[in-house]
This record gives sequence, structure tokens and C-alpha cells, in this order.
Amino acid sequence: MKITLSVIKADIGGYVGHSSSHPDVLKKARECLERARKGGQLIDYHVTNCGDDLELILTHQQGEENEAIHKLAWDTFLECTDVAKALKLHGAGQDLLSDAFSGNVKGLGPGLAEMEFEERQAETVIIFMADKTSSGAWNLPLYRMFADPFNTIGLVIAANMHSGFSFEIHDVKHSKKVVFNAPEEIYDMLVLMGAPNRYAVKAVRHRPSDEIAAVSSTQKLSFMAGRYVGKDDPVLVVRSQGKFPAVGEILEPFAVPHLVEGWMRGSHNGPLMPTAQPQANPSRFDGPPRVICCGFQLAEGMLIGPRDMFDDPAFDEARHWANQIAEYLRRHGPFEPHRLPLEEMEYTTMPEVMQKLEGRFLDL
Ligand code: F6R
Ligand code: MG
Ligand code: MG
Repeated sequence: MKITLSVIKADIGGYVGHSSSHPDVLKKARECLERARKGGQLIDYHVTNCGDDLELILTHQQGEENEAIHKLAWDTFLECTDVAKALKLHGAGQDLLSDAFSGNVKGLGPGLAEMEFEERQAETVIIFMADKTSSGAWNLPLYRMFADPFNTIGLVIAANMHSGFSFEIHDVKHSKKVVFNAPEEIYDMLVLMGAPNRYAVKAVRHRPSDEIAAVSSTQKLSFMAGRYVGKDDPVLVVRSQGKFPAVGEILEPFAVPHLVEGWMRGSHNGPLMPTAQPQANPSRFDGPPRVICCGFQLAEGMLIGPRDMFDDPAFDEARHWANQIAEYLRRHGPFEPHRLPLEEMEYTTMPEVMQKLEGRFLDL
């Protein structure tokens, strides 16, 4: 049975500030999707939030980039925005960059990760959702999951994974893509992948079957709007078990809270802290950046779950470590490398300051 799994997300208003989502907004989203499920448009859905981002997890049989499914998500965000506006939540409708839907949510503001596949006898899917960071945040964990034998022992000792995986990498500034084969091309691949602000992994496929293994949202909101509208706060869908990495191999990269861009005013580096969903309310200096993880088994497209995968004391140490890194970075205040380089910050006063200083710069 062919199933499409669509994860579509948007920040349509924060409660309080940009820290979390209001229960009434989530309730409205569930009402909208329940209508669609009853009408036969969806097989199943799950609504959650990571911080101020509203996450719609949908299963259906309409394929990827289906206009009706995208319109359903768009209309859900609009209805939720009405709730956000009535409650005067912060930044109501902030990610809906267009006034009108035009066939596809791509380019309109919401983040999107979709994959269509033949549902296996047991179909394990793992969905990561992040807040206060950008799409390149998945580069390092995806490398670890699908190319690093120190993380994924299956690459070495499981015959069905031993041929490796291919990585589709997008240049998010110039809208180009390139595919690399791991392990043969990892040195070339890492030249790009190691620069997550410019290059983001969009998809990973199993070799030689070419089956889809992982898909991320790679939207760059700041570029799309031509002005600051928030970090992209990306999502990532990963298939697990069998010819794909085991659940534990997929979660393992998050045991190290790696540094990502985002945090306060989308203008800082900070550790990506893995938490249970109820703990994903970034508040200290609007952070540190958060990642949550919902695990599901699919049964004819029904979402059996979620299991809250970071709700595990085995990740306590990562959280503790993230707090220590956060504290250390915070001591740098407005200095790099805590603050992002000038051209990467989402807020800047550079033009005004430079204008004020005109004539005061003298040749050395
Ligand atoms: C970062 C984020 C927050 C806001 C900050 C200021 O992605 O969402 O750190 O940038 O709270 O928000 P505004 O400009 O909406 O007052
Ligand atoms: Mg927000
Ligand atoms: Mg957010």
C-alpha cells in the first residue's frame, strides 16, 4: 500500500512571546484535520508543537505536492491564525508570507517534508521537529545516521545497509542541488555539508534500492521573504529499521548537542537540546534551540503513536551538556562566535550604524 507522509509546519503565533503555542491553536488544528479525516481526505493525522511552531503530521494517498493536501494545511494555518489573532498571540500569522494560496505551500512560508513509499510489513518512522534554528541543523545528525560507522554500526555489520546511502544536498542560497554517494564521496560531500548555513541535506536514499530514507524541510524563510520573518525551525522525517538505520542509530547523533544557528533573534549559535515534547518551550534567552522527536509505527497509514522518543533519561546527559554549553556561550554576550557573523544575523542595525559613522572612518 502506497502511503504519503506529509509533515507541514508553520509558526502562526507564539504563546508567550515566541516560547510556545497556545492550546486553543492546537485544538483548532485538530478540528480542521478531523474534518478532513472524516471526509476521507486524510487517513490519519497528529498535531503537536515544538515551541511556537505548529506541526501537522498527515498521512494520505494523494502523493507528494498534492494541491488539496497543501490547501488543507494552508487553510488549517489560516483558521489557527484567526484563533491566534483573537487571543492577540505574538506574531500571529508570521509564517504565512502570501495572502493567497497558489497550489502548493512551497515558497509561501510553511516548512514541508514529504515522502511517498510502499508501506512495509512494519513501517517505523521517526519525525524530528526543531525550534529556534535553521534547516542546516539536520546536516550533522544526518551525516552521523547515514554515513558515520562510529554512530551507525549497521553500515558495517548489516548486509542490507553495507552499500551505503546517497545524499541530496541543496544550495539554499542559489536553489541548486547535487547528489553524493556515501561512503565513496564523503570527503567531497563534507566540504558542502559542513557549511549548513549554505548547504542543507534535503533527502537521503538507500543504495542500491533508491528507496527514500529521509526527507527534511529546507526552506530558508529569511531569503524567501527578503526580510526577517523568523528562523525556519525545520522538520525531518526518517524511516527506520530493516534496510534503514535502527531507531537507536537514528537518535544517537542527538546525544551530542551540536551547535546550530538560531536562538535569540535568530542571530546566535547555540546547542541543539533534545527534549520531551512538553519540555520544548525555549525560554532562556529564547532558547536554547530545541529538538523533539515523535516515533510512529504505520498501520495502513494509521499513525500508531507517537512515542515521545527523547523522553528518556539516556538523554539527560545531552540536556545537561546543552545547558553547560549554553551557559558558556552566553558569557560571550554580543561577541562572536556566540553572535553570528554580521551577514548571517536575522536582526541587524548595521546599515544605520554605518550611516551614522559616515565620514568618521579614516584611512589607516
Ligand atoms: C528567534 C525568535 C525570537 C525573536 C525575539 C524577538 O527565532 O523567534 O528570539 O526573534 O523574541 O522577537 P520580536 O522581534 O517578534 O519581538
Ligand atoms: Mg515565533
Ligand atoms: Mg519557532
